[in-house]
Amino acid sequence: MQSKGTFYITTPIYYPSGNMHIGHTYTTVAADAMARFKKQLGYDAYFLTGTDEHGQKIERKAKEAGKAPQAFVDEIVAATKELWKLMDIEYDDFIRTTDRRHEIAVQNIFRKFYEQGDIYKSAYEGQYCAECEAFWTPTQLKEGNLCPDCGRPTEVAHEESYFFRMSKYRDWLIDYIETHPDFIQPPSRANEMLNNFLRPGLTDLCVSRTSFKWGVPVDFDPGHVIYVWIDALSNYITALGYSSDDESLLNRYWPADVQLVGKEIVRFHTIYWPIMLHALGLPLPKQVFGHGWLLFGNDKMSKSKGNVVYPAPIVKRYGVDALRYYLMREMPFGSDGNYTNEALLTRTNADLANDLGNLLSRTVAMIEKYFAGVVPAPDKKEDIDAALVARFEALPAIVEREMNALQFSVALSEIWKLIGDCNRYIDTTQPWVLGKSEEGLPRLRTVLYNLAECCRAVAVYVAPTMPSTPARIFGQLGVEDPALKTWDSVRRFGQLKPGTLVKKGEPLFPRIDVKKELGALSEPAGPAAEAAPLPEAAPAPEAAPVVEEKEEGFGVISAEEFFKVQLVTAKVVACERVPKSDKLLKETLDIGNGEVRTVLSGIAQWYAPEDMVGRTVALVKNLAPRKMRGILSEGMLLCAADDSGNLKLVTVDGGEFAPGAEIR
Ligand code: MSP
Repeated sequence: MQSKGTFYITTPIYYPSGNMHIGHTYTTVAADAMARFKKQLGYDAYFLTGTDEHGQKIERKAKEAGKAPQAFVDEIVAATKELWKLMDIEYDDFIRTTDRRHEIAVQNIFRKFYEQGDIYKSAYEGQYCAECEAFWTPTQLKEGNLCPDCGRPTEVAHEESYFFRMSKYRDWLIDYIETHPDFIQPPSRANEMLNNFLRPGLTDLCVSRTSFKWGVPVDFDPGHVIYVWIDALSNYITALGYSSDDESLLNRYWPADVQLVGKEIVRFHTIYWPIMLHALGLPLPKQVFGHGWLLFGNDKMSKSKGNVVYPAPIVKRYGVDALRYYLMREMPFGSDGNYTNEALLTRTNADLANDLGNLLSRTVAMIEKYFAGVVPAPDKKEDIDAALVARFEALPAIVEREMNALQFSVALSEIWKLIGDCNRYIDTTQPWVLGKSEEGLPRLRTVLYNLAECCRAVAVYVAPTMPSTPARIFGQLGVEDPALKTWDSVRRFGQLKPGTLVKKGEPLFPRIDVKKELGALSEPAGPAAEAAPLPEAAPAPEAAPVVEEKEEGFGVISAEEFFKVQLVTAKVVACERVPKSDKLLKETLDIGNGEVRTVLSGIAQWYAPEDMVGRTVALVKNLAPRKMRGILSEGMLLCAADDSGNLKLVTVDGGEFAPGAEIR
C-alpha cells in the first residue's frame, strides 16, 4: 500500500524514579492506539516514548537505594520496557536521556543557544533546602517556606546558572498561539497558557545547575550540568537524529503531528518547547494535546497518598485488551476521570463480555447450528438490513474523524453503536424462529451473513485499542485473507466471502464476578504492587520571578494581574451538607469539557443543598486546592456579602450558558 504520508506521535518521557503506574500507562496506550490507527490507515507512522533520567531527584533516589544513578535508572527502565511489552505497546523508538546519542545532541543544542545569545550566565536565587540540596519554587514550598520533601526551613541562596532568554520570544509565541488555533488542544488549555503564563510576562528559564552532577555536562563550562527542560524536551528531536550525522528521520518525521502530554506539563510543551524549536530554526509540532488525569478517589495518584494503581495485576486477571479498552473508553480524552476497579469490571462485563463477546459467540454458534459452520450467501433482504448496512458504511468516516481528534472514547462508543445495532438486529429478526422452517432459511442466510460481516468489521475497528482481540475474532469467523482485515475492507459492506468456515472458540471476554473480583483486587497484590515509589512530576525550578513594576496607588492591580484569576461558569450537579459543619456545603460542579470539581462553600446558612442543584454559579477555577474537614475543595464560588456578612451567590444572567464559559 502506498503511504498516505507520515505521522509522528510522542509521549512525555517519564521519570524513572519509580515504576510506571496506570497514569503513565494511560498516555502510552493512547499514543500507541493512535499510532496503530494511523498505520492501519496506511500512514508511515512513528511512535516515540522514553525516559527522562537526569536530575537531582533521581540522583537522590538512587542514593537512598544505595545505587549509582545509572544502575538505578537502568533497572527501572528495564521494568518500564517490560511493562510496555505487557501492555502491547509497539513503540518505534525508546529514547533515554542517558543515551549517548541524546547527550551529544543536547550539548550541541545548548552550545548553539549560547553562541547565538539565547543563553546567558547569571545567578539563580531561590529558597534552598541545605538538607536536601534542592531549590524549591514558591509553589512547591510548604507554608512557612518549609521544604516539601523533608519539612525543614529553607533559606534564600544563590547559585551560578545559565538562563534561557524566554522573555525575548514572548510576543512571537503569543502571536503564534493566537494564529494557530490547533496547536494547543483542547482549546481551553491554550487560553490557560495565554492568560496565566504568557500575557502576564515570561521570565527567563534557569537551564543549568552546579549543585548536583547527575545531568548532561555543559561542555564549555564543566562545572554546570544542563538542567531538566532543555535536556528533557530535546528528546523529541534527538531521537530523530537532530545534529547527528544522520538526520534522515528528522527530515522525514519532524514536525511531530501530535505530542501527547498530561495537563500538568502542557506549559513546558507549549511555552519552552516552541521557543526552543523556534530558536533552533525548526518548525513547531502541529499539535500538543494536554490530556486529563486519571484520578483515584478524586485525587491524582501518588504513592505518598497510597493510591497508586499498577497495571500488571489487572492485566494478569482480565487481559491487556480489557484494560486498554477501559482506559480509552471510560473518560473523554482531555478530561479528568476517576479510576475505579469497579468501573473497570463493570465496563468489561457490559461492553466486552456482553455486547461484543455475545454478539460473536451467538453469530458463530448460529452459523454452526443452521449452516454446519459455513457462512451462508445473503439471500432474501428486508428493510431492516438497509439500516444496518447504512450504519456499517457510515462508520469509517466517523471513526476517522473522532480518532483524528483524539476522541478515543467517542470513536469507541460509535463502534459500539454498530455492535448494539447488531444485537438488536438479532432480537428483531429472531434467527432461531427463522431456523425452524424451510421458508425461513432464505431470510436466515441474509441475517447470519450480515452479522458475520459486522463482526469482521468490528475486529478491524478494535485493532488499535485492543491489538490482540482481532486475531481471536477473525479466528472464530474463519477469516484468513489479509485483505479482509484492513481498514479499506470495512468501507463497503459485503466483503466477507460466503463459504468461509467459522469455528467456535473460547469466549472473547469471560464474564467477571464483580463482587468476588473487587475483594481479590483490594488485597495486597503481587510484585508490581510493591513497585518503587511513584515518579511525581517535579516542576522545574525557574528563575526567581521578575518583580513587575506596579501601578501607583493602594489596591490597584494591573489588567494582567486580574487576568491571572480564571473565572468560569459552573453548574451545580449535586450538593450536600458537610457532616459536622453548620457552615459548609459541598458542591459537585460541572465546569464544562467533561470536567467535574468538588468545591466547599461557607453558605449553608443561606442555601439549602437542594436549592443549589441546577444553579449556574461563578467559580474561581485556578485557586490552589485546599483541604477542609478532610475534603479537598478545588476552587471557590463567588458571593456578594452585605455589611452583616450575609452571602448571596453571584449567578450568571439568564442561566443559558453552558458550564465552563469564561467570565471576564
Ligand atoms: N519527565 C517529565 C516529562 C518530560 S517530557 C519532555 C515528567 N515525567 S513523569 O514521569 O512525571 O510523567 C508525567 C506524565 O505521565 C504525565 O504528563 C502523563 O502523561 C502521565 N501521567 C502520570 N500520572 C498520570 C495520571 N494520574 N493520569 C494521567 N496521566 C498521568 O513529567
